[in-house]
Amino acid sequence: MSSEFTRLSAVTASVREVCDLVPRVGLTLGSGLGGFAEHIDVVARMPYERIAGLPISTIEGHAGRYVFGFVSGVPIVAMDGRVHCYEGYSAADVVAPVRVMGLLGARTIILTNAAGGVAYDFDPGDLMLITDHIATLVPSPLAGAHEVELGPRFPDMTEVYTPRLRVLAHEAARETGIALKEGVYLQMPGPAYETPAEVRMAAVLGADAVGMSTAIEAVAAHAMGLEVAGISCITNKAAGLSSAPLSHVEVQAVAARASKEFASLLGNLIGLLGSPASSRRAP
Ligand code: HPA
Repeated sequence: MSSEFTRLSAVTASVREVCDLVPRVGLTLGSGLGGFAEHIDVVARMPYERIAGLPISTIEGHAGRYVFGFVSGVPIVAMDGRVHCYEGYSAADVVAPVRVMGLLGARTIILTNAAGGVAYDFDPGDLMLITDHIATLVPSPLAGAHEVELGPRFPDMTEVYTPRLRVLAHEAARETGIALKEGVYLQMPGPAYETPAEVRMAAVLGADAVGMSTAIEAVAAHAMGLEVAGISCITNKAAGLSSAPLSHVEVQAVAARASKEFASLLGNLIGLLGSPASSRRAP
């Protein structure tokens, strides 16, 4: 039986044939945040449909391509668009592009998304640094035969979101002049937005924001031993916390309005990651 690692290694080899840039950082751009691709000094663009073995996004606003290039002088690869389980993909398919970024050489993965604010003081346009997540309501990308190349059978999840990256993210936010909030992200299965009762459940479970992505990507990246940072753009108050009905168009519009601030934050964070002091590894 062909393993997931074998499949992903073949994908990695075919990506390398088109672009041999070794990324230091892998970045996923969530709903409405694809505009960040404009801040990349682009070396190559690769639509997923041209790479056999990668899942293709079916959603408007999720372009579905890798963009290779430099941000603040740091070599990166960005996923401009991602796929979700609610599109009919398995959890392994959903995390495949993130795992490939790791196999390409990225040591740090920065995951971004649009999310609904559950914490009472979160407003549309706020940016939230993810401190931890709840992935219990969605399938695990680690289920199935154990593949040691993709991580241990029972990986520790005490610190999925690397503490030193959280420190750097706050430093980048100070440089950018934005108030970066912090909180726990809960991944819902989607594609329907939550009911108000589900949002109350999320609050009881300890979530500050809800969305339909990211946590399983973080699980896969952390299991591979990669450093992980996550940042949510709060595009709306979650269902029942405001009188406004939720819509994908509104989510994208708010994310687009916040994208300039978000881009500056990401640019500064990546710049800090590339600085010699930050690249030093703990002994
Ligand atoms: N719920 C789930 N996903 C989302 C939301 C939300 O309220 N807003 C943006 N993505």
